[in-house]
Amino acid sequence: MNTHTATFDDWIRTEFVEINTELELLYWQQFDKANVEGVGEKLKQQLKRQGNVLISHLLAEGNTDQGFDRAFDLLGNVGLFMAACRRHEITEPSRETTSPLVEASALAMHIGASIGVTPRFATAHLTTHNKAVNGTYKRFTNLPDEKLFLDYNTQGILAYKRASDALLKIVPLGISHPLCGELLKAAKYALINVIESNNALYTQLDTDRFFNCVRPYYKPYRVGKEIYRGANAGDFAGINVIDMLLGLCSANEPSYSQMLVDKFLYMMPEDQQILRESMRIQSFMDDFLQAQQYKNSNWFKSHGKLFMQVCKLHGDTAIGHHNQLVEKFIAQPSKQMQEQHLSKVTASGPPLHVLLDSLEKLRDRRAAAKRDDIKTRFDDLNSLKEWVK
Ligand code: HEM
Repeated sequence: MNTHTATFDDWIRTEFVEINTELELLYWQQFDKANVEGVGEKLKQQLKRQGNVLISHLLAEGNTDQGFDRAFDLLGNVGLFMAACRRHEITEPSRETTSPLVEASALAMHIGASIGVTPRFATAHLTTHNKAVNGTYKRFTNLPDEKLFLDYNTQGILAYKRASDALLKIVPLGISHPLCGELLKAAKYALINVIESNNALYTQLDTDRFFNCVRPYYKPYRVGKEIYRGANAGDFAGINVIDMLLGLCSANEPSYSQMLVDKFLYMMPEDQQILRESMRIQSFMDDFLQAQQYKNSNWFKSHGKLFMQVCKLHGDTAIGHHNQLVEKFIAQPSKQMQEQHLSKVTASGPPLHVLLDSLEKLRDRRAAAKRDDIKTRFDDLNSLKEWVK
């Protein structure tokens, strides 16, 4: 790491965290905890000034060619700074037409465009690609609530990735291969891990702290002229690889493909590649349905049963995400929020009811629920169930 990059990284891991934490404590003391206006102005100015100075050195140096990992890491640091400025309303996308953080925007756009990702911080920066120094990884604040949230987000993402890796290994072997069952079992255990991790997050995370002091760092912000939506734990390929390989969701379904198109650049390039490839693979659901002639063979019965268990568990992860995490930590507290702050609740920007409706449809596709208005695999799974009895 060169000196400017190292100095900036050091600041992000120390003073940056201290300033954000102090500001959070000030906001928290208010009756209206969502208000940030006119609070901690000195601290906000300090944050902006220090970040801008460090970034201007990096921009002047113009040297981002230190390999992908370094460039991605630096983009994350610039992004954390810009997201914190957004959280404290030092910037506000509806107030401005272009980001006042001119240097940070220029550096973020330079790096993002050169490595093929959005010019903002992404989920990977805080979860799967977040280097710990002496046991502490990068965060916005020192609040234990943020650490808890990130620990379980990372755990959930890693478990989903284990499930998708196992399923991808079935593709070149085929559903009748003797080892397909082992891989389906690996996917099954990984999805059980997702459920356990999400349950722990559900019971341990404090709603008010999350809603008021953690979530606001994930809001959309402007880089240059454009507004980039917030980061969410879903910005990795694995979840969609599972959807499509199992056949619960399909890339030729307009609202699903829209979601994929929108999320590509929020993922690591290696994830973008995996996702592209899995969009071209026939699903296991279709493989099983087309293998009806073998339905009385041992392999069909045992692999078919395991396949259905994996589908059920994947549906359960989605039900847990929607009915527990989204409901408890977003939908409920939003209802109590004062009117003037409500428009700023979601990470992706659309009004809350629109977001909830699309997440609900996604949940029901994953759970193969019976619905008349959208296509789900309810009937196909029932046919399979009959065949493997
Ligand atoms: C997306 C809420 C934790 C996986 C979303 C969205 C919301 C949300 C509201 C929609 C995007 C947006 O905000 O604009 C929450 C809350 C969590 C939480 C409140 C915990 C407090 C997790 C965890 C995982 C996860 C631990 C597991 C890895 C996803 C996925 C998406 C998503 C995959 C993308 C949409 C999808 O494919 O379902 N989340 N989430 N979330 N989240 Fe979470």
